[in-house]
Amino acid sequence: MTIGPVTRSYPNIPPGAFRPAVARRLGSIAPYQPLPLGGAEAANGALLRLDANENPYGPSPRTSEVLSRLEEMYRYHDGDSRRLRQELERFTGAPAESLLVGNGGDELISITAHTLLDPGDMVLVSTPTFSMYALSGRLAGGQVIELPRGEDFSIDLEQVRRAVEAHHPKLIYLANPNNPDGSLAPAETIQALLELPLLVVLDEAYIEFCGQDLGYQASWIRQVAQRDNLAVLRTFSKWAGLAALRVGYGAFPGWMAEAAWTVKPPYNTNLAGEAAALAALQDLEYLSGNVQRLKAERRRLAQEFQRLPYLQIYPSEGNFLLCRVIPNMGPDLPAVKAAMETAGIRLRYFDTPRLADHFRVSIGLPGEMDAVVRVLWKWM
Ligand SMILES: Cc1ncc(COP(=O)(O)O)c(C=O)c1O
Repeated sequence: MTIGPVTRSYPNIPPGAFRPAVARRLGSIAPYQPLPLGGAEAANGALLRLDANENPYGPSPRTSEVLSRLEEMYRYHDGDSRRLRQELERFTGAPAESLLVGNGGDELISITAHTLLDPGDMVLVSTPTFSMYALSGRLAGGQVIELPRGEDFSIDLEQVRRAVEAHHPKLIYLANPNNPDGSLAPAETIQALLELPLLVVLDEAYIEFCGQDLGYQASWIRQVAQRDNLAVLRTFSKWAGLAALRVGYGAFPGWMAEAAWTVKPPYNTNLAGEAAALAALQDLEYLSGNVQRLKAERRRLAQEFQRLPYLQIYPSEGNFLLCRVIPNMGPDLPAVKAAMETAGIRLRYFDTPRLADHFRVSIGLPGEMDAVVRVLWKWM
């Protein structure tokens, strides 16, 4: 069959015709701030990146070995992550049917919002916290209500109850442990939130750093099957050292799981990420050793920081420490930042008033933490 010339012509879209509508929908939403690239400095080791809560030990040897032998990259992989979900059931105790795997925890945050929200629906976030909750909520058409945490970053239950009564939000996002401070909400707080008429999305990106069992006891993931209003999100980025391979997963209650599968793009993970995650689950002892080393280093760093009168630190259950530079006790935050930059150390700083004089440092190797401490002793 031959196809004849196309005779009918369509008018071109006038340049910029769609711009006002796009601007109306997205104009007021601030995009995620990507990390600056390390580039050549990072490649030759001159830059110490302690701003993204990465795991400096990286993947397990088994993972690297499996990745070096990847085959059949030209074929679509198991887009429903059947094997991985089966292994995750063994790792977490949550049934495979409740689990959905995604492109990092980030994608699960987005899938949750797109599954549940209608335009104009209210979403609660307990700030300061991970910025993707507000961004994903807004991109899914929701309206975000930010509820400030207390001085010690605890959740104010009364404030949440009032917001639920006044605004009828459909969901609340909670990082547990919270980023940037590392606090873990008490079980009674989570329990009280689960009594409210909304979906509680617990983001447990750092839960594997809690306890001695890679977060098995601390996690709420096995509770998902018992309740209709709890979803739990997890990731391989932190404890398993796979941040760049983008593997996260979520456990959803039955009524929501099916809808979340509809929202999930068909091949949202990739062959390498799936293989790496499966290999990590075969190497739990090795990875747990690294997690314990990072926790020991977190304790040591906290002790070192406590010797500096101008620093206030917050107890952390994650692979990071949040610190406040106390005014008039030594250097101010810009001076600390400048000294870190001169030393080639990148920490995380914040542009919100609440965290204006704070920095967050990811826990790295002992030598890397020594480098941070050396800079801070400059003022002693
Ligand atoms: C609380 C929290 N949730 C989710 C993520 C995203 O992790 P992932 O790399 O799995 O997308 C992060 C990353 O820093 C985080 O801090």
